Amino acid sequence: MKPFVIALDGPAAAGKGTLAKRLAAHYNLAYLDTGSLYRAVGLAVLRAGGDPTDAGAATEAAKTLSASLLSDPELRSAKAGDASSKVAAIPGVRAALFDWQRRFAAEPQADVDGRPRSGSVLDGRDIGTVICPEAEVKIFVTASAEARANRRLKELQARGEEAIYARVLEDIRARDARDAARADAPMKAAEDAVHLDTSDLDIDQVFAKAKAIVDERLKR
Ligand code: DC
Repeated sequence: MKPFVIALDGPAAAGKGTLAKRLAAHYNLAYLDTGSLYRAVGLAVLRAGGDPTDAGAATEAAKTLSASLLSDPELRSAKAGDASSKVAAIPGVRAALFDWQRRFAAEPQADVDGRPRSGSVLDGRDIGTVICPEAEVKIFVTASAEARANRRLKELQARGEEAIYARVLEDIRARDARDAARADAPMKAAEDAVHLDTSDLDIDQVFAKAKAIVDERLKR
């Protein structure tokens, strides 16, 4: 049977990751945070002393990406976030990560008890448009830049990173602009995506709305 795919796209810190994990747990689906792939490539380039805008170095890092980097604590740092959106603009990097993401969606990982899963949740920027245009559910998760900066600030502070609101807001705006303006697979809502603005919602309200969208789709 064709796996059931939920595609969650949207800008940085809109709440995609939290929502994706809740949906995956609720429907027993596998979960892939595709941003972590780009973050890992960015981090690999930085650690090798390279420049994340260097297409050759970044493409090579994407082709030889080690799975252990995907659980590196530095992945969530502001530095890795900045490098990730730079490497994400390089077509060679996107091409190297494309098959990996497609395979994940086509063959969802089994659950912790080894039972097969019927599908997966992928979050990113281009899941509904490029990676899984055939996904059964597509949700474009947004929030105002200010609401996202506030969330990201709390997240960074909780991890003990020094952060200033104005700087975080500036970073978010720069990343939005870069992600939306790149020529290759820019951040964009699929035509058939449902838009979900989370600016004034807490996670339970966001989950309830998304669940209603998925349940509606499952009825068809
Ligand atoms: O979701 P995130 O903030 O962890 O993503 C990090 C960067 O990776 C983001 O700035 C854009 C890029 N990205 C992408 O281009 N395509 C994806 N599917 C996921 C992330």
